Amino acid sequence: MAQEEKIDQIGLLEEEELAAFIDHACELEHPREMVIDVLRAIQKNHGWVPDEGVELTATILGITPIEVEEVATFYDKIFRRQVGRFPIHICDSICCWSNGGEELAEQFQKTLGITFGETTKDGLFTLLPSCCLGVCGQAPAVMIHQKLYGPLQLDDVDELINRLRREASA
Ligand code: FES
Repeated sequence: MAQEEKIDQIGLLEEEELAAFIDHACELEHPREMVIDVLRAIQKNHGWVPDEGVELTATILGITPIEVEEVATFYDKIFRRQVGRFPIHICDSICCWSNGGEELAEQFQKTLGITFGETTKDGLFTLLPSCCLGVCGQAPAVMIHQKLYGPLQLDDVDELINRLRREASA
């Protein structure tokens, strides 16, 4: 386990996860295909992916940090900055946009008192625009903390946010 401890000194991955990723990477012809898996594990444990997470991923997979960064910045569900406990991805693609997505986005901004890219002062919510979430039949839709909601009415927003606040304080 000495090697694992050496490359993950800030605890971004559980020991078992780290060992499994190292083992798996050794078996692959193109370890780069595991980048998202490692980044998602780091994000699950840490809430977002700091620079150390990019470096750790590169070390595990035997690729350069730039190669990891290319993947990390391509996927909008990988966070390279600290976000709130509940990142809110509001779909702004065509089906949602034409079914009231713009008004829904405004309602979220009004309820939370923040705009896109910002996090509430209590550290709970971050508002983020998103391309199609893949549930166009439920437009307008949002994804909060990996869970999809839709179709949402403007009246649903306050209740949803209050429910998440209660969940956070439980
Ligand atoms: S356009 Fe919003 S989920 Fe597809």
